[in-house]
This record gives sequence, C-alpha cells and structure tokens, in this order.
Amino acid sequence: ARADVGVVGLAVMGSNLARNLARHGHTVALYNRSPEKTRALVAEHGDEGEFVPSESLEDFVASLTTPRVVISMVQAGAGTDAVVDAVADLLEPGDMVVDGGNALFGDTIRRTQALAARKLHFVGAGVSGGEEGALNGPSIMVGGSEAAYETLGPIVESIAAQVDGTPCAAHLGTDGAGHFVKMVHNGIEYADMQLIGEAYDLLRHVVGLSPAEIADVFREWNTGELDSFLIEITAEVLAHVDGATGQPFADVVLDEAGMKGTGTWTVQTALSLGTPVSGIAEAVFARALSSHRETRDAVQAAFGVSSGSATPVPDDVPGFVEAVRRALYASKIVSYAQGFDMLSAGAAEHGWDLDMGTIARIWRGGCIIRARFLDRITDAYREHPGLVSLLTAPVFHEALDGAGDAWRDVVAAAVRAGVPVPGFSAALAAFDGARRDRLPAALVQGQRDLFGAHTYRRVDREGSFHVLWGEDRREVRA
Ligand code: 6PG
Repeated sequence: ARADVGVVGLAVMGSNLARNLARHGHTVALYNRSPEKTRALVAEHGDEGEFVPSESLEDFVASLTTPRVVISMVQAGAGTDAVVDAVADLLEPGDMVVDGGNALFGDTIRRTQALAARKLHFVGAGVSGGEEGALNGPSIMVGGSEAAYETLGPIVESIAAQVDGTPCAAHLGTDGAGHFVKMVHNGIEYADMQLIGEAYDLLRHVVGLSPAEIADVFREWNTGELDSFLIEITAEVLAHVDGATGQPFADVVLDEAGMKGTGTWTVQTALSLGTPVSGIAEAVFARALSSHRETRDAVQAAFGVSSGSATPVPDDVPGFVEAVRRALYASKIVSYAQGFDMLSAGAAEHGWDLDMGTIARIWRGGCIIRARFLDRITDAYREHPGLVSLLTAPVFHEALDGAGDAWRDVVAAAVRAGVPVPGFSAALAAFDGARRDRLPAALVQGQRDLFGAHTYRRVDREGSFHVLWGEDRREVRA
C-alpha cells in the first residue's frame, strides 16, 4: 500500500481532480468501473505524478495507506450510493469516503449516518470550478466531522485555488454542510447568469448593440466592481463567431437553457426553509420558460412575436448602458444577500455553525461565481460578525442607494419594451419590499382571519386576535 489518496470515478471531473492531486505530490490510487478510462488517464498523464491504477475495487482499496481516503467523483444519486456502498464494504474503521459530486445535502446527511454506524467517516465536499477548476484549483466546500477534516484538510487545501496565499477550501460544518453550501453556490450561480443574460438582452434589444459591442461593454465592466469570472466568460461567448455561418455564436445557439437540477434543489430547499430567494427562483423559472417551446410557439402564434427591438433607442446611450451596469450590480447584491440569508436559515435548521465570512472567502477563487465582489462580502462579515442582512453592509450602501433611479429606469424601460427582466425586477421588488414601512401583508392577514379564523396580531397590543366576521364583528382575543 502506497497511495495516500484514491479517486473513484474517472470521468472528466474525477480524472482532473486526480491529476491535480498527483501534481501536488500525492500518490493517487485510481479506479474506474470501465478500466479503459483508468488506462487512458495513466497513458496520457502518467508523467504528471505518482498514480497507482487498479482494475478492481479490492486492489484499489489495498493500494491505499491507512487511514484510507477515497474520493468519489461519480454521478449524484444512485451512482453515488452504489460506489459508497461498494467501497464501504472494503474499508476498515477509521477510513474515509469523500463525495466530491453535486450530491443533495440530505443524501449526504443520510450517508454520513450510515457510514458512521460502521465506524467510517463520510465527508460531503462541494467542488466548484468545472473541469478547469478541478485540474488547476477548485473551490472546495467541506462538510463532515472535524476529525475527518484533520486528515482531509491538508489534502484539499493543497489542490484548491489560492487567493492571496489562502486556499479556497475550508471545513464549513458537519455532515451535509459542505453540499448545502455548494447547492446555494449553484443557486447564486444561476441568478448571476440570469442577471447577466438580462443585461445582455437590454443592451441588445433596447439599446440595439451588437454581440461584439456588448462583449466590449462586458470587458469594460469587468475592470470595475462587477469584475468576475462569469462577466469575463460572457464577453468571450459574445465575441465568438460561429465557424459554420459567420454569425455571432449567440445567434446560432438554440435559446433553450438546460439545467441539471441543483438550482431547482436550492429553490425547493429555500421554500421549505421559508427563505425568499426570489432571484434564484426567477433564474430557474426563466430557464424552464425558455425550454417550454410549445408554450412559446402557441403564445407567439396567438399574440405575435415580440423582439423588443421595435422600441426607441434611449437618447443617452452611454447613460443607459451605465444604468444597466448599476442595476446589474444592485440586483447582484440582492441575490447574494438572499443566498446568504438562506445559508443562515439552513445553518439554524441543521445545527451548523456556518461562518459566512469563510464561505465568501473560499468563493473568491476557483469556483464559478468567483469575483472581486466576494472580498467585500468577506470584509463585511469580518467587520460586522452579526450582520443581519448583507443589504445593510456599509460597503454596499452606496451601490444600492445610488442605483435607485437607474434600477427603476432600467426595469421600466425593459417592461415598456417587452424585454423580460424577471431577475432585475425580482431583486428590486425584494429591496423595495424590505424597505416598505407597511406591507399589504396586513391585508392578507385580514383575509386569512375572515375566511379561516387564522387570527392576526395588532400593531398596538400584544396577543393574537380574531374578528367575529359572521356575527357582530367584535374583536376577540384568540
Ligand atoms: C460548479 C458548477 C457545476 C454545475 C454546472 C452545471 O460549481 O462547478 O456549479 O457544479 O454542475 O454549473 O449546472 P447546470 O447544468 O445545472 O447549469
């Protein structure tokens, strides 16, 4: 036995993670169900470090020094259960299985308990950064026990992205905490992508800029407070020209967005926690709407096709472009504030001691939502550990307060042009909702009391009350 860490599942993410480990001096045991992938990895990249390939799970486990650390990089769901069960059968007390896939955190909690009963460690670790990140430095959100992290920490910290000399990997909480945080990361990723898409749509169909011109706008934005990986790659996608037709690539791609389900999980979980993540929800629904081709065709046939381009171009184009930038930044702040609210709610529900500053810190590099902006969030939590909402962090005050008119102008212009901006308007509504002195929720309480005697509380007295609506409309204490 000589490998200090093993990787099971050698599709792109798994083999890139294995190579990353080997490049950082680890001796990496390899196993894949079909041995061709294992052989290909060793043939093509065997010179990058020390690999110990096996063609049976027994040999793979035997090639690891104890306590064994086995990282599973297989599909979430049944695939992960199959691998975890098969590996666990061969392990000894004290060994560890790490799930680096996009598992649902509830499954991770269940697997942690099942393996603990067999005296095995199970660690759910969210790995973000796609194929490139897995190879060159991902962001790694680690759950599981403190004891497991003592062994695993040095391994993941050695292969994670580094920002300012600190690794973008940390132990965030017990059992499913790592996968929970990764799930919220993905939800925020969806919201960021949707907001950027809406900004593009406005610049294209309200302002009338070409994809190449919009690429330049995004490149410019990427030098300021919006500086982020997603803005950078958006410019790259927009500047790309289709080889076959010579058309902008953005115009030849079918406008039906796919999704593998992590955004949906985020929203489902937020609904059960009662946390409004409207920006993430709108992003998931916008992808769903885009893919409902039949509905789109039927509505277009019934009402005519709208392209948004028929609306007059704003008089002050640079001013409008700047307004879109401000609206995008303000909406992004709201969507992150909602994401962090959800992290707090999840922590309270599951008994995790999530440190928001640490989460923002390990999202600064490696992951899909990496951005300069996350430094500000880290600082905000460091300076104000009890921060109730990111919206109130002094670093964002100017961006939210100053965006007011621009935000409203942009949403109004989009609405008039028939360009849907569910992300921008949901964010603005969330901000306005939080700022209102009185919300129509009072009326909803009245309606609930009338039809269902659900009771209400008063502004001027403690207690719960009910009006005898069907009788003399006296108020009684409930
Ligand atoms: C990451 C990503 C990744 C996710 C893809 C695709 O952090 O590296 O979040 O885990 O699988 O982004 O997600 P969708 O297919 O749902 O868009």
